[in-house]
Amino acid sequence: MTREQAKKTIEELIEKIDYYNMRYYQDSVSEISDQEFDQLMKKLEDLEAQFPEFKYPYSPTQRVGGTITGQFETVIHKYPMLSLSNTYSEEELLDFDNRVAKGLNGESYEYFCELKFDGVAISLWYENGILRRAVTRGDGIRGDDITANAKTIKTIPLRVKKNVSLPREFEVRGEVFMPRKEFEKLNKEREKRGEDLFANPRNFASGTLKLQDSSIVAGRRLDCYMYYFLSDEEVIKTHEEGIHLIEKAGFNVSPTYEKCADIHEVLAYIKKWEKRRFEEVPVDTDGIVIKVNSIEQQRRLGFTAKSPRWAIAYKYKPENARTKLKGITFQVGRTGAITPVAELEPVQLAGTTVKRASLHNANEIERLGLRIGDYVFVEKGGDIIPKVTGVDLKSRPEGLREFEFITHCPECGTELVRKEGEAQHYCPNEDGCPPQVMGRIEHFIQRSAMNIEGLGPETIRGLLDKGKIHDVADLYTLTFDDLNGLEFKIYSEKKDDYTIRSLREKSAKNIINSIERSKSRPFDRLLFGLGIRYVGSTVAEKLASYFKDIRKLAEADYEELINVPEIGEMIAQSVQAWFAREKNKKLIERLIRYGLKTKIEEEKEFEGNRKLDGKTFVISGVFNKVSRDELKELIKKHGGRVVSSISSKLDYLVAGENMGPAKKQKAQQLSITTISEDEFLDMIGEND
Ligand code: IVH
Repeated sequence: MTREQAKKTIEELIEKIDYYNMRYYQDSVSEISDQEFDQLMKKLEDLEAQFPEFKYPYSPTQRVGGTITGQFETVIHKYPMLSLSNTYSEEELLDFDNRVAKGLNGESYEYFCELKFDGVAISLWYENGILRRAVTRGDGIRGDDITANAKTIKTIPLRVKKNVSLPREFEVRGEVFMPRKEFEKLNKEREKRGEDLFANPRNFASGTLKLQDSSIVAGRRLDCYMYYFLSDEEVIKTHEEGIHLIEKAGFNVSPTYEKCADIHEVLAYIKKWEKRRFEEVPVDTDGIVIKVNSIEQQRRLGFTAKSPRWAIAYKYKPENARTKLKGITFQVGRTGAITPVAELEPVQLAGTTVKRASLHNANEIERLGLRIGDYVFVEKGGDIIPKVTGVDLKSRPEGLREFEFITHCPECGTELVRKEGEAQHYCPNEDGCPPQVMGRIEHFIQRSAMNIEGLGPETIRGLLDKGKIHDVADLYTLTFDDLNGLEFKIYSEKKDDYTIRSLREKSAKNIINSIERSKSRPFDRLLFGLGIRYVGSTVAEKLASYFKDIRKLAEADYEELINVPEIGEMIAQSVQAWFAREKNKKLIERLIRYGLKTKIEEEKEFEGNRKLDGKTFVISGVFNKVSRDELKELIKKHGGRVVSSISSKLDYLVAGENMGPAKKQKAQQLSITTISEDEFLDMIGEND
């Protein structure tokens, strides 16, 4: 094939694949079989490999991900991404309408209504019809460049349709989300595997967009709805025209929008979608957005500091239902925390059947004054777990007894404890209470921690029952013989009904290999896997990158811990208490001995001169020769550490211009050495 032919074929393939993609993902129509589609993709990949000069940034092959982004670049939004003010009643909405009418001096105007999608706002920037940048909202002024991740979302066009006339540069905004059904499926699978559940689709989508490995993003079924067209050129006269324009250009627009002649039609729109949104819209919605349709009128109405005067959000009341409280059961978490759960007569709520609701703790039961047999109100906001919000006292049957919280662990019978000032009851039997031991192991092996595959809750239970493991370190002493033929129980829905299975040779081998592989999981994943209270994924990352070595972290005192950026009192206390325990010290020593990564390996070749070894720095103010980020890099490169707050242990405060007076004063009080930008650069010998 000649270059010319290759170029042409590549172009044709891209167009075909884009077309089928759009039909499939936006219209839910498969015009060709999966196999035929894969063949087209394969052909395109092969040609691109052969002719890399024609590997275009808008090629559908770019959607599979694979880019690893260390830190997202910060981008300033060309047009700030403002928020909307909220209204919660018809009355407030009529006030808004009056303000609009007044602002337009009695002129006539129309509204445009859309649903308010509960996802993550995104800004897409196009140049010459090609997606150049995808940026998160951030603080509205600047956001993160997440282009590599956004490209994996099939409904985001990498290139707009050809026959639509669009400005050379424009922006489209909308919402990225995880469809509710997909999310429920995913959580069901996690539940089966005994993994922690994600709280709600919104958090899940937001967490996914911030992943550094875009191939993981590609595997999660994110989708988007776009609702805003922006450009310097005046190509549209109304918001409606903007919506039709982006629809034509190939963006995914929810068909639920409607133009309304006046506020009464808006009210009808609100009513219309109040219930229908649960059945007809794939994403969670929490209200509607009302926009003045004319762009020229929008301009005249303008903005307040935070939001446009030409638009407003109307929030639906959270869905609620009334049902009977059949009982209260108790769950024991991996930390021993006891969570009471309301067992309810099944009831339909916000598109799902609700049978259970979290009651959080004893205080909550007391606050609500719950009695078993009561009729209760349940509510569902953004989270998948519904809440009990009150008791229907009027219909309380006679003779219900006051509820008494349990005194002993429902799993192991140990007497529960409740620390001063804490709402939660705990089972203190850490090593003997099955759900705690199980929970710690399950937490340790999960994908985002040590990623040990092949071990389900049943096999872990089998290993515990046989006494092969007692804690997470024991996993590393398991042999093939321990696993091969291991008998374990599979429970059916009914509690005492189970069948016995045994682990096959192949599974045993896989598990052993996976355990071996897990030894090379990075330090921060191990730290997260230990399940220290309040040390979630992000905190683990922060602690690991600060201390770099588990022994250093274990030795750190409270002062030192609290000095780590973003580590608060609660975390510092919890970490310290965990490492102070003899049992945990032994566990750590064993993990080190088994060859797990308990350190961050020295980064790259060392380019600095270690002049700042072990010294801590706070940087404050604005700098002339280097940016703040560069300054941080320089400190790290030369062996120093950047911390966020001034304490007596601090070595240097690097003061730029316009430094806050509070910081200055504190540094003076504690006699911290304060140096200028120049003095700092002199220190490391990099002042030109
Ligand atoms: S328009 C200046 N339309 O709600 C007006 N926003 O509270 C820009 N949202 O940040 C927003 N659905 O993330 C608009 N149909 C819709 C929306 C929508 C959801 C989100 C968006 C925005 C937030 C404002």
